[in-house]
Amino acid sequence: MNDALGVPATVVLLGGTSDIGRAICGQLVAAGAQTLVLAGRDGAALDAAAERFGSTAKTHVVAYDARDDGRHTAVVDEIVGRVGDLDLVICAVGVLGDQQRMAADPQAAAQVMHASYVGPAATLLAVAERMRRQGHGRIVVLSSVAGERVRAANFIYGSAKAGLDGFALGLGDALVGTGVEVLVVRPGFVRSRMTAHLDDAPFATTPEQVAVATVRALERGDDVVWVPGIVRWVMAALRHLPRSLFRCLAA
Ligand SMILES: NC(=O)c1ccc[n+]([C@@H]2O[C@H](COP(=O)([O-])OP(=O)(O)OC[C@H]3O[C@@H](n4cnc5c(N)ncnc54)[C@H](OP(=O)(O)O)[C@@H]3O)[C@@H](O)[C@H]2O)c1
Repeated sequence: MNDALGVPATVVLLGGTSDIGRAICGQLVAAGAQTLVLAGRDGAALDAAAERFGSTAKTHVVAYDARDDGRHTAVVDEIVGRVGDLDLVICAVGVLGDQQRMAADPQAAAQVMHASYVGPAATLLAVAERMRRQGHGRIVVLSSVAGERVRAANFIYGSAKAGLDGFALGLGDALVGTGVEVLVVRPGFVRSRMTAHLDDAPFATTPEQVAVATVRALERGDDVVWVPGIVRWVMAALRHLPRSLFRCLAA
C-alpha cells in the first residue's frame, strides 16, 4: 500500500537495468519506498543494481525476458510470491535497435518490436489482473515521443512505442473504478545507455529529470506526463503537419 504521503511500499521495475527506471526507483526509495524488485535478463547487472539500492531498500532480483511469451503471468506470480501486493509497477523495457539493419532484417525487427511492445504489453496485462484482484496499484509505462508521430528514420521502434502508448492509455481507461491507475510517461530524447551512441536531439534530457517528472506526476495523480514539458507542444504541432512537410522536417 502507499504510505500517508502517497509513497508506494513495494516497487517493481520491469527492465531492472534501465537507466530511466533505476532513476525513478532511486527517487521513490529516497522518498520512503521499502521494497524493490528488479526484473530483467542480465543477472550480473541486476545484482549490481540491487547492491546499490541494498542499503536503502530490501531489493529482490527476478529473471524476466519480455519476449518469453509463455512466462508473463508466471513472472508476475513469482514477484507476488516474493513481496506480496504490488503497489507500483514501472515498465521500462524497450530496445531502440538499428533501424537500417532492421529494415533489411525482418527477424531483427520482429525481436525489437516484440521486446518494445508485445512483451511489455502482455506482462502488463498480467500485472493489471493481479492489481485488479488486490483492488489497488499503479502502473507506470515508459512510452516515448517517438510513438506520438512515427518518423521514417526510426519507424520500427517508433511504431512499437505507438502501440505500447495506445495500449497503456486503453488499459488505464479499462481499469477506471478498479482502484488501479496507469501513468503514461512520454520522454523526448534521454541521455541513457539506449542513446549513448547518438548525438543529442533537441530538448535532450536525463534519466534523473524523467524520474523527477514521473514522481511528481504520480503525486498529482496524472495519467500522462511529457518530459521535458515542452515536447508536448512540439509534438502537438508536429502531429498536425501535413505528411509531406513532416517527412522533410523529421527525416
Ligand atoms: N533513452 C531515451 O531517449 C528514451 C526516450 C523515450 C523513451 N524511452 C523508453 O524508456 C525506457 C527505458 O529506456 P532507457 O533509456 O532507460 O534505456 P535502457 O537503459 O537501455 O533500458 C532498457 C531496458 O529494457 C530492457 N530490455 C530490453 N529487452 C528486454 C527483454 N526482452 N526483456 C526484458 N528486458 C528487456 C533492458 O534490459 P537489458 O539490460 O537486459 O538489455 C533495459 O533494462 C524504454 O522503454 C525506452 O523505450 C527511452
